[in-house]
Amino acid sequence: MAALIIDCKSIAKNIREELKVKIRQYEDKNGQKLCLATIIVGGDPASVSYVRNKEKVCIEAGLKSITYELPESTSEKELLDLIKKLNDDETVHGILVQVPLPKHIDEDKIANAIAVNKDVDCFNPINAGKLYRGERCLMPCTPKGILRILKEMQIEIKGARAAVVGRSNIVGKPVAALMLHNDATVTICHSKTKNLKDILLESDIVISAVGKPKLITADMIKEGAVVIDAGTTLVEEKLVGDVDFENVVKKASMITPVPGGVGSMTTTMLIENVLEAAGIYG
Ligand code: GUN
Repeated sequence: MAALIIDCKSIAKNIREELKVKIRQYEDKNGQKLCLATIIVGGDPASVSYVRNKEKVCIEAGLKSITYELPESTSEKELLDLIKKLNDDETVHGILVQVPLPKHIDEDKIANAIAVNKDVDCFNPINAGKLYRGERCLMPCTPKGILRILKEMQIEIKGARAAVVGRSNIVGKPVAALMLHNDATVTICHSKTKNLKDILLESDIVISAVGKPKLITADMIKEGAVVIDAGTTLVEEKLVGDVDFENVVKKASMITPVPGGVGSMTTTMLIENVLEAAGIYG
C-alpha cells in the first residue's frame, strides 16, 4: 500500500496560527515588534532563495525581518562587527547567519560570535553543547521541525531504530541527538558509511539530510518505515529531496514530500525560536 504523504504544510500552518496570536500579544504588550535579523554573504542562488522565503514567512507571521545582503567580498571582521552590533541591539531578538559562508570567513568564529540568547539556529557551541546534553536551549530549526512532525503524526520514537543520513552540524548531528533523547536507537550514516542499504533496511525511521537527489531508493527502505526527507537541492530551479519519492512512497508507511515537507516546518520553527529568544514559550 502506498505511504501516507505527511501534510507538513498543514501541520506548519496550524502551528503558525498559534504563533501569530502570541506575536500579536507581544506587540500589543511591548509596543514593538519581535524582530529577526538575517545575514547572507554572497549571492548563492539557493541561499538567496531560502533567505527570501524565510523573510516572507516571518513577515506573514507578524515579525519584523531585517535582511543584510552583504557582498561576497565582505571580510570576517566586517561580519563579526555586524553581529556584535546586532547582539547589542535590544530591538533585535533573533540573529540568523545563512550558511555556507564564503571560504575566507571562518564559520566557527561566526558561530561563536552570535549571542547565545539570540542564536535562533543553534550555531553557538554553547547552545549546541546544551542540545547534546539534553538541556533547554534554542534548538536548530530543521531538527526541531522533524521531531515536531514525528510527534504530530504520533509516530513511536521510543525504542524505534532510526537512521540519520548526513552528519552536518545544522541537521544530521542535532537531529540524531534529538532522536536519541527521545529514546530511539540511532545510527548516523554519512558518505564513508559501509553498507548504507543494510543499515537503512533495519530502520523504522529514516531521516535523510544530505542534499543528493535520489540517494535513498526503494530497495533501501524497510516495508512500512517512516521516511523523512530533509534534503534540499535546487535542480533546474526546482527543489528536490534526497529520496526517490515515486518509488519509496510505495514501500514506506509515511513519507514527507519535497517541496511542501520539512522545509515548511523549518521556517515555522524559526518563527517559534524568535519567540523563544524573547522568552516566550509555547
Ligand atoms: N543553510 C542551509 N540551511 C540553513 C539553515 O537552516 N540555517 C542557516 N543559517 N543556514 C542554512
